[in-house]
Amino acid sequence: MKKRILTGDRTTGKLHLGHYVGSLKSRVALQNEYETFILLADVQALTTHFDNVELLEHSIMDVAKDNLSVGLDPEIITIVQQSQVTSIAELTIFYSMLVTVNQLSHNPTIKTEAKNYGYKEMTYGFLGYPVSQTADITFCNAHLVPVGEDQRPHIEMARQIVRKFNALYKTEIVEPDIMLSATPRLAGIDGKAKMGKSMGNAIFLTDSAEEVAAKVKNGVTDTERISVKIPGRPEICPIFSYQKAFSDEADNICEMCKNASIGCVACKKRLGETLNALLDPIRERRAYWDSHEDSLREIIRTGTEKANRVGNENLRAIKEKMHILLG
Ligand code: TRP
Repeated sequence: MKKRILTGDRTTGKLHLGHYVGSLKSRVALQNEYETFILLADVQALTTHFDNVELLEHSIMDVAKDNLSVGLDPEIITIVQQSQVTSIAELTIFYSMLVTVNQLSHNPTIKTEAKNYGYKEMTYGFLGYPVSQTADITFCNAHLVPVGEDQRPHIEMARQIVRKFNALYKTEIVEPDIMLSATPRLAGIDGKAKMGKSMGNAIFLTDSAEEVAAKVKNGVTDTERISVKIPGRPEICPIFSYQKAFSDEADNICEMCKNASIGCVACKKRLGETLNALLDPIRERRAYWDSHEDSLREIIRTGTEKANRVGNENLRAIKEKMHILLG
C-alpha cells in the first residue's frame, strides 16, 4: 500500500508562484509515489471570508484548475472539497477537546495572520482553524504534508493532537510529517518578504506572458545598484532570489551580476523568459480546464465521495475506540 499525502489550499483566490515553489511543485513530483489527496479548503476559507461567499464559489474551481494545470493528474490524485466531508467536521470537534485556547493563541502563524487581517478579536473558527486542519490531515491518515514553512506550527500542533488522542483512546491515527520545499519562501516581486494573493506583489499561474514580463520589469532589484557599471549584490536582490528559484542559469547570472557584466534590465528580461517558459504549459492545461468545467466538477464530486468513504470508515473505528457507539 502506498503512503498518503494530504495537502491543500484555502479557496480565497487564484494561486501564484509562491504556492508553486512552496507546495505545488512537490505535489506533482510525488503524485506517483504517494496516494495524493488535494483539499480545496473552503471551510478554512470561511474563517476569514465568511462574509464574501461569492468569492468562494469561484475560487473552488480556480484552485482546482490551478492544481491540475501545474500537472497533477486527475486520473491518479483525489481532489476533495473540504466542506462536503462530514468526517472532517466531526473529527474537528473531537480534537478540539484536546487543545487549549492558550495553545492556539500562541501559535505564531495564527498571530501573524490575525495581525495581517487586522483582527482585534478572533472568532472561535479562526482561532481554531489549526484544529480543523488536523482533521483535514488525519481523516485519511495522511503520512506526509507538503506545505510552506508558515504551516509548520500547524503540522506540529497536528502531531501533538494525534499523539494525545492516540494515547487517550488507543486509536492508531497516523502522526503526519511535514515536507518542506527545497526552495526557500518566495519574496513578493516588490521585494516584500512574502508573495501574497491580495498584496499586489504576486505573479499568478494565470497571468499572461505580457503580465509576467511587465511585473518582472517593475520588480525590485538591489536598490543601490543605480548603474550597470556598479557590481550588484545578488544575495540581497529580490529578482535574483527568483533566478535562484527558477533558472538553471542562476550561478552564471550571479557571477555576471557580481562582476557587473549583466545589468538589471537584461537580468529581468531573462527572468521573464524563464518564468514564461515554465508557465506556458501550465497556461495550456488551464485553457483545457476552462473549457471543461463540467468534467472538473465531476472530478471534484467523485474525489469528495471517495474522501467521505475513507473518512467515514476511519471515523467509525475512532468512535468505537472512544466508546461512543452504542453497538
Ligand atoms: N492552511 C493551509 C494554507 O493556508 C491550507 C490547508 C488547509 C492545508 N487544510 C490543509 C494545508 C491541510 C495542508 C493540509 O495554505
